[in-house]
Amino acid sequence: MKRICSFLIVLAVVAGTVFAGGAQDTDITLNKDKPLVFWNRQPSDPVSGDIDMEVMNWNDKTYYVGFDAAGGGAVQGKLITDYLATADASIDRNGDGTIGYVLCIGDVGHNDSKARTKGVREALGTWDGSTDPTVHKEGSVVISGKTYKVVELEGKPMTGTDGSTWNANAATDAMGGWATKFNTAIDLVLSNNDGMAMGCLQASNYPVGVPIFGYDANPDAIEAIGAGKLTGTVSQNVDAQATATLQVLRNLLDGYTGKDVYTIGITEPDKYGNKISAPVEYVAETKALLALNSGVNADNWMDYKAGTRDAGISQTDAAAKKIMLTVYNSADNFLSSSYLPALKYYAPLLNLDLLIVQGDGQNEAVCLDRFTNLNNFDAYAINMVKTSSGSDYTYKLKY
Ligand code: BGC
Repeated sequence: MKRICSFLIVLAVVAGTVFAGGAQDTDITLNKDKPLVFWNRQPSDPVSGDIDMEVMNWNDKTYYVGFDAAGGGAVQGKLITDYLATADASIDRNGDGTIGYVLCIGDVGHNDSKARTKGVREALGTWDGSTDPTVHKEGSVVISGKTYKVVELEGKPMTGTDGSTWNANAATDAMGGWATKFNTAIDLVLSNNDGMAMGCLQASNYPVGVPIFGYDANPDAIEAIGAGKLTGTVSQNVDAQATATLQVLRNLLDGYTGKDVYTIGITEPDKYGNKISAPVEYVAETKALLALNSGVNADNWMDYKAGTRDAGISQTDAAAKKIMLTVYNSADNFLSSSYLPALKYYAPLLNLDLLIVQGDGQNEAVCLDRFTNLNNFDAYAINMVKTSSGSDYTYKLKY
């Protein structure tokens, strides 16, 4: 009897060990095999804009979620020319038959910024096909049936004294300088994001009444349109982007593969009925899931007021998962006032627990140094300082 008992105990211990070992094997996913989603800043060459496919092919669970940058540039350009088409002749402030504009470029190495510069220049005829942001030509535009020449008086990237890009304070300073330098030759102020546009409006000598366009549809910019201070902006549909970022992670964590990763809960309802209400497109060559853009002006700004969330996303009872999510710059106005609030709203609905790591907009190391205890996370969502830094992050995930 004693022998039989000992035998059974040994058997139980062996079985237990085998079982525990098996459970461990299936539970542990190496960091290199975990889902990795780049968001808002697409891994790409800062000069040519070519997508960094080596990074995008890091593993079969690597994706980019953003918005249609080229389409957005065109929406921005059309918003401006539509406005000009019906504008009064007094828009030409010095009556010289030329529409002069100044341009806040943002970050010359960022695909969104490149696409917007191209979009507005194409619409105004000042685009000359060069990838060099300082190169442009004379254009033309029709205002109430009459053709005017268009000149870009000056375009500036807007880098802060600390080296951060898309810097609103730099835009305030630049606008102050432009207003003095060009005076009534400025008929139009164009900005590749709302933060810089709002920065321009802060300049004490801003030429009151000169139309000004931004991009992002941040809450303060929407209010400024309502108050008649900002002329227009473009919504890059932050709710669709934030939800898509989370839903792609959710799908990958739930074991979906192939098309399911970028359709379930996104363009097709998931089993709880979640589906993003706004249109989202998938670009297979670059593994990119993109929200579409829409123009916002005095006619429709009320539809874009803050706090309207997508009722199409409401719940899951899938297992809770932990995500490390980096933000390139805690001071970025679009990310802090629009994107992060959306992420924080949708993440609990999808049962995703976000550890948000915020950078300073200049040193990749501020985020990279937080890449410790990576085994505690089920997936990673990365917003890089430099669009060429993708491999610095994948390197961290190797081990
Ligand atoms: C936004 C900018 C923002 C940038 C950050 C862009 O898509 O339009 O406002 O500064 O993303 O990466």
